[in-house]
Amino acid sequence: MTTLKNDRFLRALLREPVDCTPVWMMRQAGRYLPEYRESRSQAGDFLSLCKNTDLACEVTLQPLRRYDLDAAILFSDILTVPDAMGLGLYFEAGEGPKFKKTIATEQDVAALPKLNAQSDLSYVMDAVRAIRSALSGQVPLIGFSGSPWTLATYMIEGGSSKDFRFTKQMLYRQPEVLHALLDHLADAVIDYLNAQIDAGAQAIQIFDSWGGALAHQQYQSFSLQYMQKIVAGLQKEKEGRRIPVILFTKGGGQWLVPMLASGADALGLDWTTPLDVARQMVQGRVALQGNLDPATLYGDRTTIETAVKHMLDDAYAAGEKTGYVANLGHGITQWVDPDQPKIFVDTVHQYSAKYLA
Ligand code: CP3
Repeated sequence: MTTLKNDRFLRALLREPVDCTPVWMMRQAGRYLPEYRESRSQAGDFLSLCKNTDLACEVTLQPLRRYDLDAAILFSDILTVPDAMGLGLYFEAGEGPKFKKTIATEQDVAALPKLNAQSDLSYVMDAVRAIRSALSGQVPLIGFSGSPWTLATYMIEGGSSKDFRFTKQMLYRQPEVLHALLDHLADAVIDYLNAQIDAGAQAIQIFDSWGGALAHQQYQSFSLQYMQKIVAGLQKEKEGRRIPVILFTKGGGQWLVPMLASGADALGLDWTTPLDVARQMVQGRVALQGNLDPATLYGDRTTIETAVKHMLDDAYAAGEKTGYVANLGHGITQWVDPDQPKIFVDTVHQYSAKYLA
């Protein structure tokens, strides 16, 4: 096994000393990069890109060639799991993800097959192995999954949603059916993430992108509980190193204290929660990740530098020396000028050193 040349991302997640703040960007491989659009057209479409080992590996590495990033993230999608359960994922141009089959009844949930990630999602494991080999220890590789709640919203709605009408109807009319679906998904995600770790993923992020759509009385029971089950079911160590887990509930800044019970090593924040407030809430018990508004990257150099400096001032306001990973508060958008992320990444490295010396 190759040793890691740059492990500051893993060290910061475990609250070990670092020389400067590690940084990566959610959705760092994507449509804002012309070389990504080229690879996607070579593959034919987005799903074929995910299933093509060489091209999935290629697009994972593209942002690392342009920017001094401290982690790579597997190029795939959270919706590969429901696709592997037979729901039939497809993408219509400009419309986002869609499923041919949806989940509406108790019978639909009972009929879902048990996932065998090694065989049903072997293309993902092939991509993980190819990326690890291509990285040859340059930076760690992040594996990921959607949270059960976030996956369930897509499976019940049949695609993206603004109001989560059918999911919320199930929650209020047949909560036991929703719980059965969430529990089935939690088991599948445990199997999926452990397979990614076996294949070489060195850290894990759980994307609870729609956790913030839940009412405060329901977040713990319909989302957090299942993420806690997942964290408990994951392999803790590989190649003699701990595999840190990051839990990202978008819109979840007010629930950081209950999230401490999840067993995650780090919590991700969107741009609505100040990092100094979040640090006080978690009292050094976990690391934090985030949380620049992705729209900041529409700004000019000065605008981006100023926003990054404010973010770092907040992150280290109480004299902390580690336990923080810089990131955007959600995925980078397709309309960002590919020159601007470099300003974000380089400012994080340069400006943070003074806090960590
Ligand atoms: O971070 C990375 O670079 C890894 C790649 C990654 C993708 N999707 C690639 C992708 C990751 C980590 C995801 C996760 C994902 N997928 C989430 C959770 C993260 C989040 O943003 O909240 C969700 C909700 C999805 C579901 C999904 N996949 C949606 C809603 C869409 C359409 C998005 C859009 O902007 O149209 C996708 C497609 C998708 N996944 C794209 C990419 C690069 C764009 C597809 C294309 O190239 O046409």
